[in-house]
Formats: sequence, structure tokens, C-alpha cells
Amino acid sequence: MITEKETTKEMVRTYLVTGGAGFIGSNYIHYMFRKYGDQIRIINVDALTYAGNPENLKEVEERENYTFIKADICDKDAIRAIFQQNEIDRVVHFAAESHVDRSIRNPEVFVQTNVYGTAVMLNCAKEAWEQPDGSFAEGKKFLHVSTDEVYGSLEEDGGYFYETTPYAPHSPYSASKASSDFLVKSYIDTYHFPANITNCSNNYGPYQFPEKLIPLMINNALQGKSLPVYGDGKNVRDWLYVDDHAKAIDLVQEKGRLGETYNIGGHNEKQNIEIIHTIIETLLEMLPKEDERRKLVSKDLITYVEDRKGHDRRYAIAPDKIRAEIGWEPETMFKDGIKKTIAWYFAHEQWMENVTSGDYQKYYEEMYKGN
Ligand code: NAD
Ligand code: TYD
Repeated sequence: MITEKETTKEMVRTYLVTGGAGFIGSNYIHYMFRKYGDQIRIINVDALTYAGNPENLKEVEERENYTFIKADICDKDAIRAIFQQNEIDRVVHFAAESHVDRSIRNPEVFVQTNVYGTAVMLNCAKEAWEQPDGSFAEGKKFLHVSTDEVYGSLEEDGGYFYETTPYAPHSPYSASKASSDFLVKSYIDTYHFPANITNCSNNYGPYQFPEKLIPLMINNALQGKSLPVYGDGKNVRDWLYVDDHAKAIDLVQEKGRLGETYNIGGHNEKQNIEIIHTIIETLLEMLPKEDERRKLVSKDLITYVEDRKGHDRRYAIAPDKIRAEIGWEPETMFKDGIKKTIAWYFAHEQWMENVTSGDYQKYYEEMYKGN
């Protein structure tokens, strides 16, 4: 006889989230607990590389329906054991090396984590979910979180990335993400593996590691450090507030057609230099009159530096398919999102201090050589 407790337990869906201690993964976990509360269980598997910060999940770590496992997605035995020991219903695969500049300096780890690690995740999920007749158990779903950078670069004056746009990655980062997307597609085509791929534009928001444009500029400006602009500063990115991405991922898993790819972006194209000016203006608007840092924040900090090698000129997503099929729309206007982001960094000075010490600092010195 099934007890009431067991029935309730059965209804609790278990998510295996990889890379949940990173920027988007931690925001996604917070979003999911806000939305579903105790109706879900999340197991977060993260190797805690330089980009993984358990502090990002401080507020959820005491929850009974949250488990953290420190493991490398390339460690087949560790990942297989997680699937054997838990009835996993959903995989949401974020874990990756994610920074283009690092990929230019050290491509191998990108191939290892992003390509091989994805192969391990796919294979372990397939092993756990495949039934004797080759079909997959009802309700099992794998979502691979990818990037618009797989599509390459657009001309300044036109065009958008659609799901049908041919892949043309340029950096080792985007090439490794493209390879991982193809692996997922191959599992869908070969085994009818129950997966989706999402290709999203640039995210911004709380918990973003300050090697990426927006938190780097906020952090430097507040310390009166130079603001390094690559090339002419006119490269365009399509910025999306991270909660809107988290919502889209959840909706794709709930309502998306299995096997499909969905582009996620918000028609919010901006040149890098425009972003930097907005950050300076917003900081000056938000800093209290008596705050000493007001004296440090200035447009004079803007410093044009050598361009990134192979720097993609423009990214822009056409989110038509996800809007039409799933009803997702970005909700956060950039002017509001940037304020929320800056307010978060104001309230989390200690977080910033912690992540900008140690290894990150060494990397930073090497990268900018005293700029
Ligand atoms: P991030 O670098 O902030 O976090 C990556 C996380 O993965 C970290 O917690 C890290 O410890 C973990 N990780 C790295 N290697 C691992 C390994 N071998 N095993 C287990 N864990 C490992 O990255 P992010 O910005 O949060 O991006 C998450 C995902 O979203 C990535 O797949 C990225 O390609 C994709 N994406 C990012 C953006 C963006 O703007 N940041 C946009 C579109 C897609
Ligand atoms: P980044 O945040 O690294 O994201 P991605 O390369 O994945 O788009 O960079 C966003 C844009 O900002 C990109 O065009 C490079 C540029 N950039 C700078 O000009 N200066 C910087 O210090 C950084 C980190 C990026």
C-alpha cells in the first residue's frame, strides 16, 4: 500500500543541475526554489573551479530539498553514481568553462569540460533513463544550456540569429559549445534522447564573476581603476537579465517540444562602450552623496586596450520561436536590470572581495598587464 508520504514524495521531481555554483546556475537554483518551493528537489553538481562559488547558494544550502555534490562532470564514475543513487527526472546542464578570453589563452580545458564533460552527462543520463526497448522513461528530460556565440558573428547593420542559422563559431569557447550542442543533437537524432538545447545571448545580474564585462566595469569603476575597452568599443552584445534566462529554461523544459532548440534573447542590443557609459552614469545616480567612491567613478577611467583576438562584432537573437511556441518574453528592461544588478553589487561588497582575491587576481594581472 502506498502511504500518503510516499505519494507526496513521488510528486517531488528531482533535478540534477550541473554548474549550479556559477553565475547562471545559482540564479536558476534560486529562481526554481522561489517558484516551486518544496515541490522539487535539486541536486547541484559542481567542481567548484575558479568560477564556482558555494557562497552563491548560502541561502538555500540548509534546505532539505537541496543537495550539493562536489564533482567534476568529466568524472564518469562520480556522475554515474549520482544517477544510480537518485531517481533523476530532469537534468539542467550549465557546467562549462565560460569565458572567451580564457579560452583564447588556454583552449584545452574548454574541450575537456565543455565537450567531454557533456558527453559524460549525456551518456550517464542515457544509461539511467533508457528502457530495455530503447525508449526513454516517461517524463525524463535533459536541457543543455548553450550560447548564441555558436552562430558566429553578425554584420553591424543587419540580421539576427535564428535556430536555423548555420553554426560558425570563432573562439575556442564557442567552438567547444558548438561541439557540445552537436553531441546533444546527435543523441536526439540517434537515440531519440529526450533533450532540448537553449542558445542564449549575454546574461547579466547578481553573482556574475567579475571577469565578464558588466561586473568587471562596476567593480573597477568603484575602485577608480581603469575600464579596459577592447578595440573600438563598438562590438554589440544582446543583453538579457539572468532571471529572464532562468524562467526561459524552466518554460522550455515544461512546455518545449522535445528535441527542439530554442533561442533566448531580448532584442536588447548595445555596444560595449554604451554599456560602460550607462554603468558610470547609473553608479553616480545610485551612490549616496556622502559616499567617498563618488570621487572615483568617472568617464576618465575608460581606457581603450588591444582588441580581443578574433573578436566577434555583433550578436543578436531572434526570440520568435520561444515567444510563439512557449509564450516566453523577457520581462526586465535593461535600465531596470542594470539598477538591480548594481544594487546587488553594492549590497554584496564582501562577495566581491572574496572572489577578487587569490587565483582570480593572478589571472587578472596577467590579462591586463597593469592597465
Ligand atoms: P560560470 O563560469 O559562471 O559557471 C560555470 C560553473 O560550472 C561554475 O560553477 C564551475 O565551477 C562549474 N564547472 C566548470 N567546470 C566544471 C566541471 N568540469 N565539472 C563540474 N562543474 C564545472 O558560467 P555561467 O556564465 O553561469 O554559464 C553557465 C552556462 O550558460 C554555460 O554553459 C555557458 O556556456 C552558458 N551561457 C552563458 C551565458 C553568459 O552570458 N554567461 C550566455 C549564454 C549561455
Ligand atoms: P564578455 O563579458 O567577456 O562576454 P562575451 O565575450 O561572451 O560576449 O564580453 C562582452 C563584450 O565586452 C565583448 O565584446 C568583449 C568586451 N569586453 C571589453 O571590452 N573589456 C573587458 O574587459 C571585457 C571583459 C570584455
